[in-house]
Amino acid sequence: MIELRAAETDDELELWRSVRLAILPNERTASVAELRAGGSFMLLAHRDGELVGSGSASKSDMGGGAVTPRVLPAHRRQGIGTAFIFQLIQVARDAGVRAVMAETKTNNLPIGRLLAKCAFQLAGVDTHRDSNHDLVKESATLLWYAALD
Ligand SMILES: CC(C)(COP(=O)(O)OP(=O)(O)OC[C@H]1O[C@@H](n2cnc3c(N)ncnc32)[C@H](O)[C@@H]1OP(=O)(O)O)[C@@H](O)C(=O)NCCC(=O)NCCS
Repeated sequence: MIELRAAETDDELELWRSVRLAILPNERTASVAELRAGGSFMLLAHRDGELVGSGSASKSDMGGGAVTPRVLPAHRRQGIGTAFIFQLIQVARDAGVRAVMAETKTNNLPIGRLLAKCAFQLAGVDTHRDSNHDLVKESATLLWYAALD
């Protein structure tokens, strides 16, 4: 059974970090103190007691709540990412935002398919998000929205 719960204690936030570090080893991951200061809602997914993923929802400066799900490779394609999205949408709804947004890379097919399946609409392509050469690097940014009203 998949269990989603908020990461609140320092130990839980360390678990949240461990998922991000495992999936994005070459990117900097915020410390527990930084996560606390950031004010985002953090979520952990366990299945039968085993950590399988983490997600977050934050109030963004783009008019909605931004959601990010991450599932450890061995546990993908089993509905956990979808469960995250629905839970994070609920968090955003409770926070009173008008829409949920997600930012993805054009070369990340799984998250694009997942968002489309969860009724997110593609709202824009940002070709300068990371650098002045995003198109050359084939890593432009897609902006997705799901309206909550
Ligand atoms: C994107 C991610 C969260 C999906 O998690 P998941 O638990 O595998 O997702 P689900 O099992 O709920 O998949 C739901 C749907 O998404 C699509 N999907 C998921 N993985 C896919 C893949 N590898 N290829 C194509 N479509 C995929 C499918 O439509 C799938 O439905 P289906 O299995 O019935 O075909 C996971 O691949 C992941 O953690 N990726 C790395 C981190 C990341 O990029 N996060 C997004 C940051 S914005």
